[in-house]
Amino acid sequence: MVNVLVTGGAGFIGSNFVRSAHATHQDWQITTLDKLTYAGRLENLRDLEGSGRHRFVKGDIADAAVAAPLVREAHVVVHFAAETHVDRSILAAGEFIRTDVFGTFVLLEAARDATHLQRFIQISTDEVYGSVPEGHSRETDELRPRNPYSASKAAADRLAYSYWATYRVPVVITRASNNYGSHQFPEKVIPLFITNAIDSLPLPLYGDGLNVRDWLHVDDHCRAIDLVIERGGLGEVYNVGGGHEVKNIDLTHRILELIGRPASLVRPVADRPGHDRRYALDTTKLRDLGWAPRETFDDGLAATVTWYRENPWWWRPIKDQDPAFREYYQQQYRPGAGA
Ligand code: NAD
Ligand code: DAU
Repeated sequence: MVNVLVTGGAGFIGSNFVRSAHATHQDWQITTLDKLTYAGRLENLRDLEGSGRHRFVKGDIADAAVAAPLVREAHVVVHFAAETHVDRSILAAGEFIRTDVFGTFVLLEAARDATHLQRFIQISTDEVYGSVPEGHSRETDELRPRNPYSASKAAADRLAYSYWATYRVPVVITRASNNYGSHQFPEKVIPLFITNAIDSLPLPLYGDGLNVRDWLHVDDHCRAIDLVIERGGLGEVYNVGGGHEVKNIDLTHRILELIGRPASLVRPVADRPGHDRRYALDTTKLRDLGWAPRETFDDGLAATVTWYRENPWWWRPIKDQDPAFREYYQQQYRPGAGA
């Protein structure tokens, strides 16, 4: 059996990865290590209950007593665990430094003497390049992160690289663009706008709505990770981009059309401080390895809308009943918030 440790596997991308890997790789024994922060939900792994090839460990990656033994028994580590929401990092950055930077350091330290380890996949992000007004970021481009989240991810990205360069920890780094799909926490723009539209609530669009994101379906991201586990070069970085650049204003109207709600629900609000204008990735390197996105944005977005419509049991408890989410929402979207 191949022992695969997935950190953050109860979150959005991590749980999609664990489910697909469990289905695809019969010879993988998967351990999910997750602290179950507000963003981590055991419901995301419900399909795997009772499986002899998956176990869940509740724990903090920054706690070496829990994390290090798991790293040392792994053949593969896929490191998703992070604080991930830019707006929350602007409100309070401390947890981002603790988890994204220090937590990654704890895992890498354990990996130094993990004798079975063949791959340590560091899940980084296109945000490390900073705003890209024109052209497409290549893996060799300078990193210019501009918010506390992306700066913490850039630190982790380069720390992981340094453990390859210095100690030969078998690190491979992926930098993905904006993911969307099922099980995404409803603070991120697509699930927030879908669920608000379902309830005929305003869709709070930051600034002029002309910021551009490159949307990647989470299934395409998971296939890319699978590929780099198998064929990624040690110490290498791979961009993973969907190639679907969409302005936020256009995304908003598409969601309203799919749900059959009026444009009057669009609510322009103050801009995000330091709001990166555009991200766009050159994915030649990963395509040369044999990957291409399969999902079109039209189909993927429609399927995502359908998933949220059919699974209110998943998001209503967060949006309607969780006092912590309400508090966050009120703070983030109160009049006068933002830049
Ligand atoms: P998410 O917020 O949905 O999930 C994060 C998970 O990490 C949660 O289950 C949470 O409980 C867990 N976690 C947080 N702190 C932890 C800690 N200290 N110890 C153990 N577990 C902890 O995030 P996501 O959107 O699925 O992102 C996963 C990874 O992918 C992150 O590293 C993120 O930076 C990266 N990424 C995300 C996107 C995107 O569009 N969502 C794009 C590129 C890269
Ligand atoms: O690019 C990859 C990154 O994508 C990941 O590394 C992050 O973990 C992930 O959260 C995501 O970051 P973004 O900041 O791009 O995602 P978010 O969904 O928060 O915002 C997407 C765009 O929508 C962005 O331009 C801000 C805008 N937005 C967002 C929210 C939540 C709004 O206009 N209104 C909103 O209420």
